Amino acid sequence: MAEKIVILTGAGISAESGLGTFRDEGGLWAQHRIEDVATPEGFAKDPALVHRFYNMRRAEAAKAQPNAAHLALARLQREYSGEVVIVTQNVDALHEAARAEVIHMHGALASALCAACGHRWAAPLVMATGEPCPACGAGAGRPDIVWFGEMPYFMEQIEDHLLGCDLFAAIGTSGQVYPAAGFVQQARYAGARTIEMNLRDSDSSYAFEDHLIGPASKVVPRWVDTLL
Ligand code: OAD
Repeated sequence: MAEKIVILTGAGISAESGLGTFRDEGGLWAQHRIEDVATPEGFAKDPALVHRFYNMRRAEAAKAQPNAAHLALARLQREYSGEVVIVTQNVDALHEAARAEVIHMHGALASALCAACGHRWAAPLVMATGEPCPACGAGAGRPDIVWFGEMPYFMEQIEDHLLGCDLFAAIGTSGQVYPAAGFVQQARYAGARTIEMNLRDSDSSYAFEDHLIGPASKVVPRWVDTLL
């Protein structure tokens, strides 16, 4: 019978495309305070600072190209006999650029959100304080990013996928941010096999049965070859 694979990706899969991770040495959270740039309270206090931070991320992401790992996952999704669901914590669009279908649980740099009415629209490359909402007109536009203290998107759909999966893979994520860090336990509960791909052991390595250690651009294509 065809199997269902659920794949969770994190910042490590985009590192070789030139996008910095959060918690590696010199990563984004070593340079910026989470409270300032990744919380609703930080945005209320200093929206210009938060927009500057995400404008930088948007500019970097716009220049980045998918790497061999993104391309391999897209190939797996196209060619595998079963179902392949890709869930990403990343806000870049590199899975889409590789022509994969992806669920963005932490939002997307390409999207803007009206804090007043909830309308979403395509974010301009540079967003500014008081960005007007095209639906309600309020100057309440914010990056459509899930900040700390907010509920990640598509959780019901993701939990359904996890409950029905036969194989769960986590690629390039430190396993420090919930609920994503708990997906491996949910998949195990559902009876799935589990595999982690990372440069090194992560905080949740103990929960995975199998491990492939190395850069995503090398280990992911090899793993995909074995599945196909
Ligand atoms: P982290 O920066 O926490 O972790 C990146 C992981 O990728 C680490 O475990 C690295 O060892 C690994 N890594 C780095 N380079 C790699 C490579 N070339 N190949 C394979 N692995 C590599 O990033 P995330 O786990 O994605 O949330 O962080 C989770 C969330 O925390 C993010 O979505 C973001 C952040 O706060 C929000 O902004 C809402």
